Amino acid sequence: MTEKVYHYPLWIRLWHVFNALLCLVLIVTGISMQFSEPNRSLVPFDLAVSIHNSAAILLIINYLYFLIVNRLSGNRMHYKITEKGYVKMLITQFRYYTLGIFRGEKTPFPVSEVRKFNPLQQFAYIVILYWFFPLIIITGLGLFFPEMIITRIFGISGLFLTDLFHILSGFVVSMFMIVHIYFCTMGTRLTSLFKGMINGWVEIH
Ligand code: HEM
Repeated sequence: MTEKVYHYPLWIRLWHVFNALLCLVLIVTGISMQFSEPNRSLVPFDLAVSIHNSAAILLIINYLYFLIVNRLSGNRMHYKITEKGYVKMLITQFRYYTLGIFRGEKTPFPVSEVRKFNPLQQFAYIVILYWFFPLIIITGLGLFFPEMIITRIFGISGLFLTDLFHILSGFVVSMFMIVHIYFCTMGTRLTSLFKGMINGWVEIH
């Protein structure tokens, strides 16, 4: 019988589904605004702006909910780098993904009661949630309240820089989403991690 661990409690699943949906809405409306032409756009420009702003407010609320409950529930420990030789662990996991997996080798950092994420997965989640989410939110708020932005930094327009960082972080989050879904197929079975995100229980190797 396959052993299972309850790694995704309801609060994480709720946060995750809203987060994923809101990110999709923000990506579609964001791309639509960026590449819109007067008579040709994916979503009419004004509508795209309203949807993007509303989804962003919901995303911020959902993100604050994640930060608070993640800390209170203890799930935050999975987002802390505590082990020694972390760089070596990242390289080992990278080697597994690029070589070992195709040779049928066993995963170097199997999921267990205490280990929820492998090092690369953990690092990606930390970078996205604790570096890029704050950046995308702060720059987004800057674009929403442009009077708050410093007019010029080193001779460059503050508004331009804020916009640039907002678009760059949006691009990084979009790329993360694609890679994330691909890596989620690499559980014990193709669908086991997706099932885990639906019912909370993840199969362990
Ligand atoms: C349609 C889009 C998405 C799908 C299908 C999806 C799928 C999954 C699955 C199957 C898991 C469980 C496996 C694991 O722990 O890695 C997971 C976890 C996770 N996903 Fe996603 N995801 C999506 C979008 C996103 C987005 C946009 C983000 C963040 C920007 C995100 C961040 C996370 C995080 C942080 C976890 C671990 C949560 C925890 O247990 O603490 N996901 N995702």
